Amino acid sequence: ASARTYRITALAGDGIGPEILQVGRAILDAVAKRMGFGIQWQEGLIGGIAYEQTGDPLPPETLKMAQDSDAVYLAAVGDFKYDTLPREKRPERALLGLRAGLSLFANLRPVKILPQLVDASSLKREVIEGIDLMVVRELTGGIYFGQPKGIFTDAQGSRRGVNTMVYSEAEVDRIARVAFDLAQKRGHKLCSVDKANVLEVSQLWRERVTAVAAEYPDVELSHMYVDNAAMQLVRWPKQFDVILTGNLFGDILSDEAAMLTGSIGMLPSASLGASGPGVYEPVHGSAPDIAGQDKANPIAQVLSGAMMLRYSLDQPEAAAQIEQAVEAVLAQGYRTGDIYSEGMTLIGCQEMGEKILAML
Ligand code: NAI
Ligand code: MG
Repeated sequence: ASARTYRITALAGDGIGPEILQVGRAILDAVAKRMGFGIQWQEGLIGGIAYEQTGDPLPPETLKMAQDSDAVYLAAVGDFKYDTLPREKRPERALLGLRAGLSLFANLRPVKILPQLVDASSLKREVIEGIDLMVVRELTGGIYFGQPKGIFTDAQGSRRGVNTMVYSEAEVDRIARVAFDLAQKRGHKLCSVDKANVLEVSQLWRERVTAVAAEYPDVELSHMYVDNAAMQLVRWPKQFDVILTGNLFGDILSDEAAMLTGSIGMLPSASLGASGPGVYEPVHGSAPDIAGQDKANPIAQVLSGAMMLRYSLDQPEAAAQIEQAVEAVLAQGYRTGDIYSEGMTLIGCQEMGEKILAML
């Protein structure tokens, strides 16, 4: 099985995207060579660069290419210079189009604090040391998509803004299974976050998650209201293993959880569907303020590559090798600017890539 060749769509996008993607690809190529499998890259246009060249931030050829691949390796899109464009032309629109086009309903964000970086967080060492949690956010339902939505004018001429939070039983069940499957492979604990004291949609959510839990007797299920979860995440984050939540709550909690580590340049993510290619990308954006200066931290991109190996390509050993190489390079004291602290060795994006390659 390890002799096969995977077809991967590489989407560099804007800002620091091309710099960090180049590093990530070189590392994936190296680990593939070592482990005896192949990666066939195909490059697509996405984001502002795609808009400038084709008039569309997600050209149909890019989506088609993504659909026909084993996985999508994405960097980042966006630049403040596109902020004045109409909504459907904005680079960020391409992300929504890609999620919808690949039916990616599960967003996975691991939040792990590496021992070398505990001092990068603004929280106390004892609070964050050893954090290893995973936020599973439902990505294609909930209030961002529910109908009716819009700004409506009534007969008297006064306007109302409307969004609707909807979850069907089937939508809850499938995201719950993704989260329980992960919990089984991790710490066997799952905390489902909702607002069941106020929202009917959350009552159904809680009921279905509890029902699905019966299929996973080895996973300990708890429920938490989202306001409390927001507090608990900063009070004692180590109580969590897998956090399962809907689209809106997950958007907020996953950013909060990411910031526990204090280092946006370190955090990978995966977006998965029921079958077909997943999308693997860093949590951060295109960082236009440091683009083209060789200052970006490529590690979130590199670790997203490791997630791709683990979740889409079934190469967990190759994934672990990349993760270990990253930790080893940090242990040697090499740092990009975003994670730099006194006494460490400051290096650029490209050199960080070279150090990780050498370690591999
Ligand atoms: P951002 O994540 O791009 O940058 C926030 C801050 O973190 C900046 O100071 C940046 O220099 C720094 N930073 C981010 N990644 C870094 C890395 N790898 N190494 C070192 N420093 C890093 O968020 P911002 O500034 O709000 O947005 C910039 C653009 O990115 C916008 O157009 C936004 O819409 C887009 N964006 C795209 C995302 C995506 O492609 N998934 C996600 C978030 C924002
Ligand atoms: Mg967000």
